[in-house]
Amino acid sequence: MIDRQALYSLDKRQRVALINSLPGFKPVVLVGTVNEESRTNVCVINSCFHVGADPALMGMIIRPAPEGTERHTLENILATRAYSVNAVTRAMAQRAHHTSARFTRDQSEFDACGFTEHWHEDFTAPFVSESPLQLGLKLAEYLPLTINGTHLIIGSIELVHLPDHARRDDGTLDLKSMDIVAGVGLDAYHAVNTGQRFRYAKPDKPPELI
Ligand SMILES: Cc1cc2nc3c(=O)[nH]c(=O)nc-3n(C[C@H](O)[C@H](O)[C@H](O)COP(=O)(O)O)c2cc1C
Repeated sequence: MIDRQALYSLDKRQRVALINSLPGFKPVVLVGTVNEESRTNVCVINSCFHVGADPALMGMIIRPAPEGTERHTLENILATRAYSVNAVTRAMAQRAHHTSARFTRDQSEFDACGFTEHWHEDFTAPFVSESPLQLGLKLAEYLPLTINGTHLIIGSIELVHLPDHARRDDGTLDLKSMDIVAGVGLDAYHAVNTGQRFRYAKPDKPPELI
């Protein structure tokens, strides 16, 4: 067991690595943006989460920039109020990880990491062509969090681009059929196995398998 005192006695790198692993398997996506000088940017993010289905909202957390560095994604979203969220597949994982490197404002991670920009009509932000599941979001709410200086971004889902084969008749998506990975911490990208699906749970009996 690790209590609070033991946790804060750990070497900082060890502590951060441990804490980053605790939330378990998480979505790992590429966020595509553009600045007002038309320079594109893409970076890997693992803090994307569901906020609500109706209206369709997704959130993510952007960390504060360490002293002397910039946060291009955050700046671009605040300037243009648009961004894309693109799922990462196994074939994309190594290139997706590369986007976390500190590239300068003038360097587009699309070129540097081997991704292709895709522009949907009437949408300001670039999408990642290689991704099978591409979402277009508009900034809906922005909250700088006082507790740790991070930035909460909530976007409304305006556009969903996906292959027909991944759509099930009941409306859900088969993410495995697109080979989308799950992330752990800041360095692991896991292939996903077949899951179990259950019908809507009722109090009086064990949920039925679908
Ligand atoms: C697997 C992984 C997940 C990451 N998730 C986040 C995240 O959720 N929020 C964040 O601010 N940075 C995250 N990062 C770090 C950014 O990718 C990194 O700071 C990047 O350089 C930011 O690019 P930008 O300055 O172009 O926005 C993550 C990095 C990795 C490797």
